[in-house]
Amino acid sequence: MPATKLRLDKDALFETLGYEPHPGQLEVHRSTAPRRVLACGVRWGKTRAAAMEALAAALEPRDRTMGWVVAPTYDLADKVFRELVVLAAEHLRHRIISMKESERRLVLRNLGGGVSEIRGKSADNPVSLLGEGLDFVIIDEAARMKPAIWESHLTQRLLDKNGWALVISTPRGKGWFYDLFRRGQSDDPAYASWNHPSWTNPHLNRAMIDAERGRLPERVFAQEYGGQFTEGAGQVLRNVRECATGEWKEPVEGEAYYAGLDLAKVEDYTVLCILNSKREVVFVDRFHRLDWGLQVTRIRAATDRYNNARMLVDSTGAGEPIYESLEREGCNADPYPFTAKSKAALIDNLSLMVEKRQLTLPRADLWPEGIDELESFQYSVSDSGNVKSGAPSGAHDDCVIALALAALCIGPEDFGCPLLLL
Ligand SMILES: Nc1ncnc2c1ncn2[C@@H]1O[C@H](COP(=O)(O)OP(=O)(O)OP(=O)(O)O)[C@@H](O)[C@H]1O
Ligand SMILES: [Mg+2]
Repeated sequence: MPATKLRLDKDALFETLGYEPHPGQLEVHRSTAPRRVLACGVRWGKTRAAAMEALAAALEPRDRTMGWVVAPTYDLADKVFRELVVLAAEHLRHRIISMKESERRLVLRNLGGGVSEIRGKSADNPVSLLGEGLDFVIIDEAARMKPAIWESHLTQRLLDKNGWALVISTPRGKGWFYDLFRRGQSDDPAYASWNHPSWTNPHLNRAMIDAERGRLPERVFAQEYGGQFTEGAGQVLRNVRECATGEWKEPVEGEAYYAGLDLAKVEDYTVLCILNSKREVVFVDRFHRLDWGLQVTRIRAATDRYNNARMLVDSTGAGEPIYESLEREGCNADPYPFTAKSKAALIDNLSLMVEKRQLTLPRADLWPEGIDELESFQYSVSDSGNVKSGAPSGAHDDCVIALALAALCIGPEDFGCPLLLL
């Protein structure tokens, strides 16, 4: 086939696209390893480099090319895909056969006159990862993705056509992404990997990075900006397992109880968590898709049973009227409206109490979803550079919030008295 004799000149393409790779990016573009693994700090230019690789692959002269850009959620997949669409619209308009951002599908006429297709996919929806053989797959934010997605879905797609993969992420613990990275450091010729801190992107503002270094916990900075693989670096709550030695307990007469209530938003659960005066979690109720009236009755019944437990309620937004009905029903409730600041204070208190082992949680076999949520609750750095804590994308945090509210309701041990009595 004459078309395959033509080779794409990547440097020339990048010039056309107005892209001048920095030295770290250049190494990735030059590598011909079928598995490339790029583990770098935030804002290093990973997504930019990945988008350029996708376009270069799509323009390669071939009869047909099919490639996927995959991320843990649609939001993240859209970040890469949008970059592709903008580049194609600006510089490759004459090559576009079809471009539907809503379908996450870009079809281009490649340099050999053949048809190349790039599709954006989310690992949230594994069914959409079935099917076709691929010439390439690019995975962004890979460390946040479950290992099964790579092992069971994506590697299969690459078999038929002997396709290549570019797997990129900011490190996050030592899971499957770390294993791939390590393979790239070994003498396996099929794998190449790179690890760079954010500051090797010359386009990044050094003063901003230094400010972040001062502001962030050291282990968080080392992971997010240093690009280091450290176990538990982004973990907000340490010692969760060590605290998980307790069991559910029936109410005891005369005991004082403290509760936290996180009300369901659209997709998640309402969780009620109750502590006794020894800071042991004695009761948790978790439910969703109940109408508000039923929820109020159910919560009222539980706090009643536990000696009219004193309760802190996330009263933000839609929570406000529920909080009011709980109060009308005679619940011993106080509101805790969420702002960035009040939420940070809430989580800081929980983190301190867990770290000092002041809380006793039910054993993991009794409360698997709670222990799992607490362990995966993590710090992350947003696009605007702020550090937030929260559940990894796609996961829930309602048990964490309910527990945090109950923990704040009673307060840490050395405080002497429950915070609410102050
Ligand atoms: N070669 C380059 N030339 C000019 N600007 C660049 C280059 N590479 C990256 N940038 C800029 O650096 C910033 C970070 O790039 P990008 O979003 O690709 O990084 P990232 O590593 O994917 O970041 P995140 O961790 O936030 O996902 C962007 O503003 C991007 O435009
Ligand atoms: Mg990115």
